[in-house]
Order: sequence, then C-alpha cells, then structure tokens
Amino acid sequence: MTHLTRTLALLAVALAAALTGHARAGDKPKEEPKKLTLMQRKLLHSQTVLEGLATNNFEKIGSGGAGLLECVNDATWKINETEKYLAHSADFRRRAEAVKKAAKDKNLDAAALAYVDMTLTCVKCHQYLREDKPNP
Ligand code: HEC
Repeated sequence: MTHLTRTLALLAVALAAALTGHARAGDKPKEEPKKLTLMQRKLLHSQTVLEGLATNNFEKIGSGGAGLLECVNDATWKINETEKYLAHSADFRRRAEAVKKAAKDKNLDAAALAYVDMTLTCVKCHQYLREDKPNP
C-alpha cells in the first residue's frame, strides 16, 4: 500500500517534470528566427528588395527577389487551387522574377518598376482573400 502510494507519487513527479519539460521545449522555437512563417519571410524579403532599391544595392535586390521566389515556390504557399489564387500567384512569381532579373542586369529603374508591380500583386491577392473568402 505504501509502496503503491510512493510509486504513484513518483509517477506524478515524473509526469509533472515531463509536462513542464514539454512546455519549455514547445516554447523554444518561437524565439528562434528560423521559425518565421512563410508569410513573414515574404514580408522580410520584400523589405530587403526595398532597402536595395533605396541604396542602389543590386545584391540586396537580387537576394530579396530570390527569397521571394523561394516563398512562392514553397508548397505551403498554395492555400487553395482556385483559378484566381493561382493567377495571383503566377502574377506574383512573374514580378519577383522581373525583380531578380533587373538586379542581375543592374537596372535600377526596371527593378523599381518590377517592385511596384509586385507590391500591387501583394495587395491584390490579399484583397481577393478578404473579399472572396475561399475555403482554405
Ligand atoms: C497569391 C496570393 C498572395 C500574394 C501575391 C501575397 N500574399 Fe501575403 N498572404 C497570402 C496568404 C494566403 C496569407 C495568409 C492569410 C491567412 O493566414 O489568413 C498571407 C499573409 C500575409 C501576411 C500576414 C502574415 C502573418 O503572420 O499574419 C503578410 C505580412 C503578407 N502576407 C505579406 C505579403 C507581402 C509583403 C506580399 C508581397 C511581396 C504578399 N504578402 C503577397 C497570400 C498572398
């Protein structure tokens, strides 16, 4: 009887330790920069492009553009397969490619234009998501 009580008490302690250990392990990734969502990465890459445009830094424009292409090619980008969503995605990919190409050509005007076009596709796709509310 006492043995059983002690075993149960030990089990309870072990369980509590396991649970708090779990909670800590679960909290950790949030602090790691790597754990940014695809959408947050997308925003960061577009900021890198803007920074490159403002400072005439083609390397930044190019790497931001490449990062954006990685995002749109990520499997989790495709939240639905509606014609409109796919069209917005294709539009976005074309513009991101244009940003990257302009950086390679060291053409600041073309890069700025492509960036503005791309930013409009950000707004258009988000507008579509808000208004049409497709099933994810
Ligand atoms: C083809 C569609 C599409 C395009 C283009 C697009 N997004 Fe998004 N965006 C989404 C979807 C889908 C979500 C997630 C919405 C949700 O979770 O409810 C999202 C969410 C976001 C969020 C919110 C992230 C968060 O943590 O809540 C930000 C910021 C964002 N996008 C930035 C951008 C920027 C910047 C661009 C352009 C460079 C862009 N998006 C272009 C579809 C798009």
